[in-house]
Amino acid sequence: MKKIEAVIRPSRLEGVKTALSDFGISGITITQVVGCGLQKGQTEFYRGNPIHINLLPKIKLEIVVKAEQAEDVIKIIIENAKTGKVGDGKIFIQDISGAIRIRTGEKDRDAL
Ligand SMILES: Nc1ncnc2c1ncn2[C@@H]1O[C@H](COP(=O)(O)OP(=O)(O)OP(=O)(O)O)[C@@H](O)[C@H]1O
Ligand SMILES: [Mg+2]
Repeated sequence: MKKIEAVIRPSRLEGVKTALSDFGISGITITQVVGCGLQKGQTEFYRGNPIHINLLPKIKLEIVVKAEQAEDVIKIIIENAKTGKVGDGKIFIQDISGAIRIRTGEKDRDAL
C-alpha cells in the first residue's frame, strides 16, 4: 500500500476529485491547509519566534491505495492539477504498513 499526499491549488480540487472518482478511488481525505514553497519561504522573527509570512491557502489530499494503483493516481493528479505556473503544488509518496476497516476488522488491502 502507498499513501499519496498531494498539495494542490484549491481551484483544481473539483477537477482532481472528479478524475479520481472516475478512476474508481473511493477513500480520500481532504484538508484545507496553508503552506509555502520555493517562492514564499521567508521567515521573520517576532520576539525570537519564527513567523512564517505569505502562507497561501492550498488543499491537501491524502489517498491510500494498493501499490499498483499509485502510478495511475499520481498521473491523474498531475494531469488535473497542473497549470505550469509556480505554486501548482507537490506530491509526496509514502509506504503504508497497515490499514484496518474499523467496522469489519478487515485488514490492509481489503480495508481500502
Ligand atoms: N518540501 C515541502 N514539504 C511540505 N510541503 C511542501 C513542500 N514544498 C511545498 N509544499 C506544499 O506545497 C504547496 C505548494 O508548493 P509549490 O507548488 O509552491 O512548491 P515550489 O517548490 O515552490 O514549486 P514551484 O516553483 O512550482 O512553485 C506549498 O504551499 C506547501 O503547502
Ligand atoms: Mg512555489
